[in-house]
Amino acid sequence: MKNILVTGGAGFIGSNFINYMVERHNDWYIINFDKLTYAGNLENLRSSENKNNYHFVKGDINNSELLEFVFNKFNIKYVINFAAESHVDRSILGAEVFIRTNILGTNTLLEIARRNNIEKFLQVSTDEVYGSLGADGKFSETTPLSPNSPYSASKASADMLALSYNHTFGLPVVVTRCSNNYGPLQFPEKLIPLMIINALNNKKLPVYGDGMNVRDWIYVLDHNKAIEKVFEDGSTGEIYNIGADQEMPNIEIVKLILKKLGKSEDLIEYVKDRPGHDRRYAIDSTKIQTKLDWKPEHKFEDAISYTIDWYLNNKEWWERIISGEYLQYYQEQYGNI
Ligand code: NAD
Ligand code: DAU
Repeated sequence: MKNILVTGGAGFIGSNFINYMVERHNDWYIINFDKLTYAGNLENLRSSENKNNYHFVKGDINNSELLEFVFNKFNIKYVINFAAESHVDRSILGAEVFIRTNILGTNTLLEIARRNNIEKFLQVSTDEVYGSLGADGKFSETTPLSPNSPYSASKASADMLALSYNHTFGLPVVVTRCSNNYGPLQFPEKLIPLMIINALNNKKLPVYGDGMNVRDWIYVLDHNKAIEKVFEDGSTGEIYNIGADQEMPNIEIVKLILKKLGKSEDLIEYVKDRPGHDRRYAIDSTKIQTKLDWKPEHKFEDAISYTIDWYLNNKEWWERIISGEYLQYYQEQYGNI
């Protein structure tokens, strides 16, 4: 049995990861360690919660005593660190919690992992650490770090700390850097779910600046299968970029969502740009494709349709979130976990 601490497993990517992996790996025992911030939602894990290779612990990655207890109790030998404050706009409004969780929290986790002689520590990172591209080129693993937002600066710091624990202490660290994810269970502050939900509610769709900022989109399951590959076969001390070669200007995605929902483009509203808004991201994922034999399996046209359908069919999930009702619900349901 592999006892794996998955942090941040109640968020978007982490919950998709757990739901998929508990079914797929009978030899994995997943301990989901999550603080349940505004972005953490145990409802995302309904299909896993009764599985005997899954366990939830409510906790903050800054809490070294609790982490030490959990590492001992479950004999943790593997860590996959998804836990983070993840939204760029929020980091612009206030960076402190990003520093606390993404940098200090990662350091706490690394330190406990080091003391417990673990066999692998996978740090889930982002292409945003590389900064912004012009019209040409792609980010490779050797592109110099040049983060522009407090969010990406905090993630770059965490990557460097993780790699330093490998270099200095021999901690078996691997780092993944992925492009923009989309799919079911994404918190409706991010572009794609926000636009779907606003369109369904006939509300304005706020497009930042000229709408021509480009992101490189990947379906969440493709990202998670890449993480699985790196977890199983990735070489210690290495960084692996993950992307699906699917660049799109934001406005094109917004128009596509409106078209698929049969809504008018009149709902589009160009608003003030995000301060320091990165213009373009594009990922070169040759390394993971050639060294670890991974490739994305989902075509954007199919996976975006599936994603839109998921939000159409899971209104209750997002209505509870946007009404704020879920915060109270959690306290009642899970307050004592
Ligand atoms: P998310 O915001 O949906 O989920 C984050 C999860 O972390 C939540 O469940 C939250 O409760 C938990 N968390 C936050 N602070 C914590 C703390 N101090 N202790 C324990 N748990 C805490 O984020 P996401 O979009 O699922 O992203 C997951 C990871 O993947 C992040 O590290 C992010 O930087 C990275 N990433 C995201 C994307 C993307 O497109 N969303 C792309 C590349 C990389
Ligand atoms: O590239 C990976 C990163 O992708 C992850 O590391 C982050 O955790 C994740 O949040 C995401 O960051 P972005 O800033 O790219 O995602 P977001 O969904 O916030 O925005 C996508 C693009 O859409 C970006 O150019 C800003 C724009 N946008 C976003 C929102 C929320 C709008 O035009 N209007 C909006 O209302």
